[in-house]
Amino acid sequence: MKKIIITIDGYSSCGKSTLAKALAAELNYVFIDSGAMYRAITLYFLRNHVDWNVKEAVVQALENITLEFCYSEETNSCEIFLNDENVEWLIRDMVVAENVSEVASVREVREFAVEQQRKMGDTKGIVMDGRDIGTTVFPDAELKIFLIADPAVRVERRFRELLAKNPHITITEVKANLETRDYIDSHREFSPLRKAKDAVVLDNSNLSMKEQLKIALKLVKEKL
Ligand code: C5P
Repeated sequence: MKKIIITIDGYSSCGKSTLAKALAAELNYVFIDSGAMYRAITLYFLRNHVDWNVKEAVVQALENITLEFCYSEETNSCEIFLNDENVEWLIRDMVVAENVSEVASVREVREFAVEQQRKMGDTKGIVMDGRDIGTTVFPDAELKIFLIADPAVRVERRFRELLAKNPHITITEVKANLETRDYIDSHREFSPLRKAKDAVVLDNSNLSMKEQLKIALKLVKEKL
């Protein structure tokens, strides 16, 4: 059967990864969370005190970074490895969330990540979610979804997710972080968050995962 590339972009905490993961499982496609790559790079920079405002420091640091996605039976998903260490859980930390958008706005960081993301799409049969996947990484993707959700719904979703990891987190902190990231992501110079002209907008504020998946699968069918 014909395999296609599916991109899911949107603002923070719209449920992109959840939908992408479910869609990939349904189609037997590979699911790639591109945000995990920027988060893992950020984790490396923080751990190694790399100043991402200094180009030479960034270039040198990137030479020492290997990112890999490996399937985990436990979570039934691809998890990210930074230099052979599984950092899937660590990259969800608030300190990473607070710095990732700045790191992701550095040109060299984007070039490093985008090159690897494009290679992952060589054999098609992939669902990748992020901010610039439909515009920059795979501008010729067969199906592009731009996911949106009410800001209050997004804050609530992320808050509930983070609470499991950090019982002291407050809704105000989560809201501020989402707003800051969305602002930086959509105003950066290189590859800002935008809806691709040919992307289908899907508002999931009042949709269950089952309903979203049904809509997405219908869109896929039209492309096959
Ligand atoms: O998707 P997630 O919220 O985990 O992404 C973390 C951050 O990584 C985003 O806020 C954004 O700054 C950056 N990102 C990006 N381009 C992508 C995916 C994520 O700039 N394609």
